Amino acid sequence: MALGDLLAPIGLPLLRALDAERAHGLTVKALKAGLGPTARSDAHPALALEAFGLRFPNPIGLSAGFDKNAEVMGPMLDAGFGFVEVGSITPKPQPGNPRPRVFRLPADRGVINRLGFNNEGAEAARRRLEAFRQERPAAIVGVNLGKNKDSADAAADYRIGAEKLAYVASYLVVNVSSPNTPGLRALQSVDDLRRLTEAVRDARDRVVTGRPVPAVLVKIAPDLAPADEEAIARFARDGGCDGLIVSNTTIARPDGLADKAKAQETGGLSGRPLFRRSTEALARMAALTDGAVPMIGVGGVGSAGDARAKLAAGATLVQLYSALVFEGPQLIPRILDGLARAD
Ligand code: FNR
Repeated sequence: MALGDLLAPIGLPLLRALDAERAHGLTVKALKAGLGPTARSDAHPALALEAFGLRFPNPIGLSAGFDKNAEVMGPMLDAGFGFVEVGSITPKPQPGNPRPRVFRLPADRGVINRLGFNNEGAEAARRRLEAFRQERPAAIVGVNLGKNKDSADAAADYRIGAEKLAYVASYLVVNVSSPNTPGLRALQSVDDLRRLTEAVRDARDRVVTGRPVPAVLVKIAPDLAPADEEAIARFARDGGCDGLIVSNTTIARPDGLADKAKAQETGGLSGRPLFRRSTEALARMAALTDGAVPMIGVGGVGSAGDARAKLAAGATLVQLYSALVFEGPQLIPRILDGLARAD
C-alpha cells in the first residue's frame, strides 16, 4: 500500500473545505509528490480492449481538464485509469478567466467551471510528455487541443498543437465544445470541423514517423441542434475524423438542481446533472453513425452502473472527471471491480 492510499480518505474532507480550484491545485501537487493512491489498471484482464489501434488495459479514462498541463499522467494511470487525456492545451500559455471560476454543487454532485483554457501552452506540455514517453512508452495518453482566446486563426492553432504534440500523443482531440472560449463552439459547424481536422491530420502526418499515426477525435457539446448532430455524424461516418467524444460540459441547467445559487454561475456544468443529457446525446450519435464510429462516452459517470450505461448507449470507452471531486480516486478501482463483476 502506498502512502497515498492511507492519506486519501483523510485528504478528501480537507480538500472539500477549500475553494474548488485551490483544492485541485493541491491535489496535483500531492500527486506529483507521489502521494497518490495505487490501483492496478490491468487488475481485470477481461476489461482490456482494442480501440483506435491501441490496446487499453481497461475502458475507464481520465477526461480532459484534470491534467491540463500534462503533469500527472503517471500518477493517474497508477491510480487505475486505463488511459489519461491531458489538456486542453493551446499553442501559447494563457491565464484563463478571472477567479473564482470553478464551483462545486455538492447536493447535486455537479461542478460548474468557466476556466477558459488556463494552461502553460504547448511547449511546456511537449517537454513533460517527451520526458514521460521516455519512461513509459506504452502508456495511453491522449492530447486534447484547444485554441488561444486571442487567436484569429483557429485552424492554425490546432495545426500548431498537432505539430508540437502529435509525436507524443496516443490520440489527438480537436476540442471545439468548451463553452468558455468565445466563438469556440461555433467551430462545430462541419465546414469548420473539416478545416480543423484536415489541419491536424496534415500536421500529424508530417511529424509522426515510424509508428502508427495517432487517431484524431472530435469532442462535441451535449447542446447541439439536431441538424448539427446529423451533420457531424455524417462527417464522422465519411471518415472526417476517427472517433467522437460525447460530451463536453453543458451550458444548460436542468430543472431541479438543488444548489440554486451556484447553478446560476456562468460556465459549463458537469457531473451527475450532465449524465442523462450526455448519455442521450451519445445514444443519438451512435444511432446516426450506425455504430460505425468509435466513441468515448463522458458526462456524469460516478459508478460502474453509469459506465455500463455509456457502453450500452454506444461508447467503446468511458471517461470521467467530476465524480473524482466528490468520491476521490478510490472510485476508479470500485468502477473497475463493478464492471468486471458484470462481465
Ligand atoms: C473540464 N472539461 C474539459 N474538457 C475539455 O475538453 N477541455 C478542458 O480543458 C476541460 N476542462 C475542464 C475543467 C473542469 C474543472 C471540468 C469539471 C471539466 C470537461 C470534461 O473533460 C468532461 O467532458 C465533462 O466534465 C463531463 O465529464 P464529468 O466531469 O461529468 O465526468
